[in-house]
Amino acid sequence: MVGMKWDQSLSVGIDLIDEQHKMLIQRINDLATAVDRNQGTQKIIKTLDFLLDYTEYHFSTEEKHMVKNHYPGYNEHKEAHEDLKVTLGNLEGDFLEEGATQDLAESINVFLVNWLIKHIHGIDVKFGAFLKEQGLEMTEDA
Ligand code: FEO
Repeated sequence: MVGMKWDQSLSVGIDLIDEQHKMLIQRINDLATAVDRNQGTQKIIKTLDFLLDYTEYHFSTEEKHMVKNHYPGYNEHKEAHEDLKVTLGNLEGDFLEEGATQDLAESINVFLVNWLIKHIHGIDVKFGAFLKEQGLEMTEDA
């Protein structure tokens, strides 16, 4: 498996977002490990659900702050989030239908990791830069 690691090159300059990305990476790695080792349906579904829940939580945190701060890139950013949520739902459907296949393992190891890196570098950093330029803070309960 690939085993993605967070490093400073993935920082968007906002601590809360960085911390949530680290957790997201952890959950992707947990899922990849469960699928790679074919740890059984219940374990894989559990790690997939953890990932889905945390992804939802993370995206809604970012979106809430975009709306609150009138971020001009909100629509484009939200669309990217929605696309990934559909993909994750499809992964779950594929797993339920076909089990922990090599294709599924590859989708997780390659697609999810690449998506996240591309999303952070291409889209999240813009939001991070916007918050910094405006001198805005981002807290969990904002
Ligand atoms: Fe960090 Fe836009 O997801």
